[in-house]
Amino acid sequence: MLSDRIEGKWIDAFCETFAKCGVKEGDSAVILSETQSRQLNVHLAELALLRLGSRPFHIVLPTPRNAYPVPIRSTGASVAIGGLAPVVSALGQAVFVADCTLEGLMHAPETPQILKAGARVLYISNEHPEALERLRPDDQLAARVRAAAKMMRAAKRMTVTSAAGTDMAIDMTGASTAGVWGWTDKPGTLTHWPGGMVVSFPKGGTVNGTLVLDRGDVNLTFKRYLEAPVTLTLESDYVTRVEGSGADAEMMRAYLAAWGDREAYAVSHVGFGMNQQARYESLAMYDQRDFNGTELRAVAGNFLFSTGANEFAGRYTAGHFDIPVMRTTITVDNTVVVRDGVLQDVFG
Ligand SMILES: [Fe+2]
Repeated sequence: MLSDRIEGKWIDAFCETFAKCGVKEGDSAVILSETQSRQLNVHLAELALLRLGSRPFHIVLPTPRNAYPVPIRSTGASVAIGGLAPVVSALGQAVFVADCTLEGLMHAPETPQILKAGARVLYISNEHPEALERLRPDDQLAARVRAAAKMMRAAKRMTVTSAAGTDMAIDMTGASTAGVWGWTDKPGTLTHWPGGMVVSFPKGGTVNGTLVLDRGDVNLTFKRYLEAPVTLTLESDYVTRVEGSGADAEMMRAYLAAWGDREAYAVSHVGFGMNQQARYESLAMYDQRDFNGTELRAVAGNFLFSTGANEFAGRYTAGHFDIPVMRTTITVDNTVVVRDGVLQDVFG
């Protein structure tokens, strides 16, 4: 059982990450939160920003009513701001935004405007700080993620296979790629902590094949290791069949159907985890309320598959699954980047 109290070591960890974001004495820094935010992280952000000599202030929004028929988990698309102009303007004017919203501003509708104004945004994933303290800034990880993002931006084709039966292909031409290493010091950019993955949003009509989610793979919306295999058939981006028995397949079918929206079945992003410090077993180590799953997305060698919104393919929906798939082989053009779930040493 973890106790929700301020610990000096957690202020240290927040300071380390904020310092990598270039937060300096006198910088204006917004701590953006909502009423359902993890108060411990909100307080730690404030104390760390004060220790760095910056000028923090809080913007707190009431967590809005869920507009959908199902609970929403880790979509990366916060609706907390709700287009409120004074908030958007204040965030844009700050040097640094410590984003403590539940979902994060990654895909929030207001984010382009905030970044255009020059703010740099760090989403602090809604994890217990005991997880954040282990996932510190790592310069070597940053260099490897940058190299992987460069490879993915130039890629034409990505294939994913596995002994469990996965055989899928993605046309990467024109895909939009982001590398996330856990901090950003560049004005007008956004990232999240923890980091350690590369994700690409493919263009429309580019993803085809079979994806077998095996026992032990993870559905992060349900915060569960799969107990029985689920086979997804992908045709021109869309999941057209979800086959399998047991709770995992049943919940996937029900949750996808609940949206009443064809776009919920389409591929959002594809990529892979690169963080050797991120632990596969982390979901078993925390209460569900203390876990948002970003660590599992970053586990080195996982194929990070997701369904839901892909603005680069012109698809918008709030339904989102992030599914780290273990033990696959991922080939980008002619380079094997992950072999049987092991990240290969190809990024320097
Ligand atoms: Fe995602």
